[in-house]
Amino acid sequence: MIYGLYKRSLRRQVAKLPQPKHVAIVMDGNRRWARQAGLSDVRLGHRFGAQHLEQFLTWCAGAGITCVTAWVASADNISRRDSAEVDYLMQLAETVIADHVRRDHRWRLHVAGQLDLLPDSTARALKEAVEATRDRVNAGDLTIAIGYSGRLEVVDALRGVLDEAAASGRDLTDVAAELTEDDITRHLYVPGLPDADLVIRTSGELRMSDFLLWQATHSDIEFCDLYWPAFREIDLLRALRTYGRRKALTHP
Ligand code: IPE
Ligand code: MG
Repeated sequence: MIYGLYKRSLRRQVAKLPQPKHVAIVMDGNRRWARQAGLSDVRLGHRFGAQHLEQFLTWCAGAGITCVTAWVASADNISRRDSAEVDYLMQLAETVIADHVRRDHRWRLHVAGQLDLLPDSTARALKEAVEATRDRVNAGDLTIAIGYSGRLEVVDALRGVLDEAAASGRDLTDVAAELTEDDITRHLYVPGLPDADLVIRTSGELRMSDFLLWQATHSDIEFCDLYWPAFREIDLLRALRTYGRRKALTHP
């Protein structure tokens, strides 16, 4: 009851403030959440976390945010965590996340990351979901970062620039002399999106951990102590209010 009143009051406050176009979320703390909840298999934290993304997207849509990037797994997570956990995570990406986006017509899906790090079935399911959602009109842009590293994205973008130059037979010295920021931006995993205005990281970790290196250069960052599956709509609204107040002060 009180929570409902508070939420409505926050929504009203947020609606009057400048809003981010692009919100990026680092969904951290799934395993700690599961441990704290006394679950015997901490992978269940990932299941709750993946399902929680659906709610988060509903809150974002409700707040008028049209571009969301969600970090599901880093390249490091995939190469360093034990294979049973990675298999479980990939299953969730294929089922919970890809299926949800097919049903939820509010979003066009994009995928950012090194898809060759993923099992074939996961890469295929995500690519199919990208295709199935591509032509949605009046939809927002949802990017799933999976097998993702910000540094590798920039390296891959530069590789794209060089491949393009090689294909058109350009001289490398000219390419180097004329290289611009736009050349890199055009070759990011998902070109054409606005930069991230606001990055939210849950679970109390105060790091960026190789997320959105290029797109988060000017981002505001909000850290929240709750573990990802426990993150509530009011926590999103508070982050949006902090963002909006800061913007209203710096760009009145
Ligand atoms: C976030 O939860 C999801 C992934 C990184 C795949 P974690 O798995 O990092 O959970 P904690 O941080 O260990 O609690
Ligand atoms: Mg973590």
